[in-house]
Amino acid sequence: MDKMLPKVRKAVFPAAGLGTRFLPATKAQPKEMLPLVDKPLIQYGVEEAIHSGIQNIIIITGRGKTAIEDHFDVSFEMEHLLESRNKKDLLNTIRSISDMINVAYVRQKEAMGLGHAVLRARELIGPEPFGVVLSDDVIDAEVPCMRQLLDIYEFYGASVVALMEVPKDVISSYGVVDAEPIAHNGARDRLFRICNMVEKPRPDEAPSNLAIIGRYVLTPEIFDSIESIEPGSGGELQLTDALKHLLRSRPIYGLRFEGARYDAGDKLGFLKATVEFALKRYDLGEEFRQYLSTLKL
Ligand code: G1P
Repeated sequence: MDKMLPKVRKAVFPAAGLGTRFLPATKAQPKEMLPLVDKPLIQYGVEEAIHSGIQNIIIITGRGKTAIEDHFDVSFEMEHLLESRNKKDLLNTIRSISDMINVAYVRQKEAMGLGHAVLRARELIGPEPFGVVLSDDVIDAEVPCMRQLLDIYEFYGASVVALMEVPKDVISSYGVVDAEPIAHNGARDRLFRICNMVEKPRPDEAPSNLAIIGRYVLTPEIFDSIESIEPGSGGELQLTDALKHLLRSRPIYGLRFEGARYDAGDKLGFLKATVEFALKRYDLGEEFRQYLSTLKL
């Protein structure tokens, strides 16, 4: 790593969205708190950031999201109860959540898009590069996806987005890139130099089948780009549009990361993730597998 290159120390977690794709579960509960097996979605993202070497997180919240703040805080009553019952394992589990990381919260008063959410973190980020994690995108990978992106950032010193090939019939749910493959670590099909990008294109207008997935490493110039764009898709300030603006003055890379991604903000994606994660659990997997094999499918 270039010694002069600033280190990525912080990650932004936009979490002010209303979660309409998961109603009625998200009527009075943040979607970020839906449990995959026994851990809320957002905790998977936070653990990924920690395992990637990031120690500070900034969660962009909104109305009705206090459960997220409580989750990463100390729970005196719960700790007291577990202590008195001598439940040491559970006590350690819940203590480790509050000890996990430094968290700051910023309120996004109105949900005006992903770009708008990221811009709310400007003061706390300052002139540093930073990560962005969309906790709906749960990524199961040997090397955490954020770490994979950071390796590219540390090599090229530029912004990097996570990419994945998606089928044409769902391409219009994503930001889509036009990109040139470049050789990296002996492979020619993983790393791309981005030439253009479009947020939620019609299938016939999509420049490729490479979609942006919710992990980004961004250099701080992105904030000026967000400030200079107009609302785009859905009438919202889109991060993809800001990245496209940034492309005029800076290179941006895209990494087709290694790992399995689940769209846990979607009911079917959430179910798939639940089954896969439960099967991998040392304490549940075996019995769950046996149970599944009894189902007449
Ligand atoms: C956001 C981004 C989009 C990206 C997607 C990945 O969209 O705007 O570019 O492809 O996340 O999950 P959203 O899912 O919030 O509509």
